[in-house]
Amino acid sequence: LPTLLLAFGVGYALGSIPFGLLLTRLAGLGDVRQIGSGNIGATNVLRTGRKGLAAATLLLDAAKGAAAVLIMHAAFGPTAATVAGFGALLGHIFPVWLKFKGGKGVATFLGVLVALAWQLAAVFAIVWLAVAATTRISSLSALVATVAVPVAAFLMGYEQIAVAAALMGAIILIKHRANIRRLLAGEEPKIGAKA
Ligand code: G3P
Repeated sequence: LPTLLLAFGVGYALGSIPFGLLLTRLAGLGDVRQIGSGNIGATNVLRTGRKGLAAATLLLDAAKGAAAVLIMHAAFGPTAATVAGFGALLGHIFPVWLKFKGGKGVATFLGVLVALAWQLAAVFAIVWLAVAATTRISSLSALVATVAVPVAAFLMGYEQIAVAAALMGAIILIKHRANIRRLLAGEEPKIGAKA
């Protein structure tokens, strides 16, 4: 149990680094939480018009999740790795540094999946890209891909990861409630539309 607590703590610490906020601030763009959806993720960073910064946000938010999993896998094995991934997602979504108001977890979830089971990351990416290609809506693509992952994990026999992914997916869905409301109202903006 102490190793699992440590794994969770390391995951949380890494996950709580708000790269979208830091990068946009460093670039002199002010507080990304004041524009668009108010989120600190890559989708909202893109609304500043800075594609490179958005790509870096996506990459770094994913990398911190992958790093948490890989480090704890090397130290303590697969269960600690899964717990670290869960911690990283919670750290991103509920960072103590931002009064627990963080991001929506999509990029970090993808990074965690890359390190836990790349096949599931591939499922996520393919579903995300397919929905994005047809709708051009980031949140909808993320929501469909997020639901697909625990189902795929279960079907592919990754039982422990399936349970963790279902839990992580539920939190991601709840964090998207404003997006879901806009989607139902037909008011969700397309990818890259300026704030
Ligand atoms: O990945 C986050 C995306 O699903 C929604 O972001 O800024 O449109 O709320 P945003």
